[in-house]
Amino acid sequence: MRHLLDTQHLSRADALEILDVAEDMADTQRREVKKLPTLRGKTVVNLFFEDSTRTRISFEAAAKRLSADVINFSAKGSSVSKGESLQDTAQTLQAMGADAVVIRHGASGAPRTLATSGWISAGVVNAGDGTHEHPTQALLDAFTIRKRLFGDASRGRDLDGIRVTIVGDVLHSRVARSNVWLLHTLGAHVTLVAPPTLVPQDVSGWPVEVDYDLDHAISTGPNALMMLRIQLERMNAAYFPTEREYSRRYGLDARRLEALPTDSIVLHPGPMNRGLEISAEAADSPRSTVLEQVTNGVSVRMAVLYLLLAGERPDTEKEDLR
Ligand code: CP
Repeated sequence: MRHLLDTQHLSRADALEILDVAEDMADTQRREVKKLPTLRGKTVVNLFFEDSTRTRISFEAAAKRLSADVINFSAKGSSVSKGESLQDTAQTLQAMGADAVVIRHGASGAPRTLATSGWISAGVVNAGDGTHEHPTQALLDAFTIRKRLFGDASRGRDLDGIRVTIVGDVLHSRVARSNVWLLHTLGAHVTLVAPPTLVPQDVSGWPVEVDYDLDHAISTGPNALMMLRIQLERMNAAYFPTEREYSRRYGLDARRLEALPTDSIVLHPGPMNRGLEISAEAADSPRSTVLEQVTNGVSVRMAVLYLLLAGERPDTEKEDLR
């Protein structure tokens, strides 16, 4: 794998390879192997032009657990505030020896520009670009769904026949877009639920069903319900219902949680707006996978960095050296 820019163009075979390598990585964590030596001598740069807690920290943890060196760059406090361009910033970091650049940027397409412009030779991983994609989030979500539904029999399995309902601010969500493409590639059936004003105009070209009624969608018995963060910072008051109205019609509360099949799970990529798209009861219930998603994110990002920088599947049994 040279770059990971999106899930729309990720093949089923490549997606399953990432998920299966992530299983191997998770096993090493369970066996309390703190570090694998596999990326010793490599440098991973976290290039974050937008805020992040989970993604940035878990890429850092993933790189360190593979013994890579990590350089964290945040646009705040850097020469970006003096007007330095993406090209000059990236080339400066490349000159410090970057082998992989993990980039989060507010502009959709910035990671692809970095990967295809010839400015740098490092592999590029999209850590979220504008409203376009967030591929490692979708991969960790698929990993979590597979793990919860199939347990130890997860390896090698796709999500054929699994029903996933994605609820909320689809319009602004790169998480939703990456999940739609990846879940479809893995064989899942995806339903989007949102107020009409938060459904993107190009949704007719997506492999999804759209439902505007959350109670109806829940009554169809999804295996997984994925609640999206309402992106209040990107919202135009003209098309957003009041928070109270949104919560009443589209929030996951105790009553709706109870109406789900007993074995269905609840995902949220974080950060959560508790009391808006998800109640505290739902967020903290045994069906919630919110913290498992965070844990799984480290294993999935280890797998992505490994496949990007080492190129082939690791033998984690042999590589249990500290
Ligand atoms: N889910 C996610 O991308 O979270 P952060 O913005 O904290 O990285």
